[in-house]
Amino acid sequence: MRPAALLDGLAALTGWPADGLLVGNGSNELLHATILASAAVGGRVLTVQPSFPLYDRLCRLLGAELVGVPLDARLAFDSDLIRREIARTEPSLVVICNPNNPTGSVIAPDGLEAILDDYKGIVLVDEAYYEFSDGSFRAFLDRHDNLLLLRTFSKAMSLAGIRVGYLLGAPTLVGEISKAKLPFTLNLLSC
Ligand SMILES: Cc1ncc(COP(=O)(O)O)c(C=O)c1O
Repeated sequence: MRPAALLDGLAALTGWPADGLLVGNGSNELLHATILASAAVGGRVLTVQPSFPLYDRLCRLLGAELVGVPLDARLAFDSDLIRREIARTEPSLVVICNPNNPTGSVIAPDGLEAILDDYKGIVLVDEAYYEFSDGSFRAFLDRHDNLLLLRTFSKAMSLAGIRVGYLLGAPTLVGEISKAKLPFTLNLLSC
């Protein structure tokens, strides 16, 4: 079953084509599929620390190495340090939680743009809490085909129990990640 009505609704909500959308049983499932497709067994995932602990747990489970770049002394993203660590460690996936769980830190748009300009691997911005911030990086999708945005109905919508998350990105990239996700994991009632 392709959840056509849900995909069409999300396409209308986001202004992004339905073939560049992947829905999952919570955004957790889409994180799992993204790490499985991009870094499992011997790959590297770079993120900041502290951040959402599931990134580390999934890396351990899937045989990927997690590279943790510290936030600065004021708990802000240091995008220059992130870029240097990307160049040094050559990860296949960079995960930026924005706003960051658990610190609420927000990455500066020009900092994220500089990361996306330099780095040709996949950058996933976890926007689980974007509704509580000044906005989303949705506009960046139009010019960066290595960017993925991850969103959920669990936080601002208070619908964690229905287990619906979604991933936005270039259709070819999202198509590859969908191969690492089991089919039919969303049930009809949630859709
Ligand atoms: C930053 C972040 N991303 C993703 C998730 C996963 O949420 P869900 O699987 O309910 O969509 C959470 C939940 O706590 C979170 O804090």
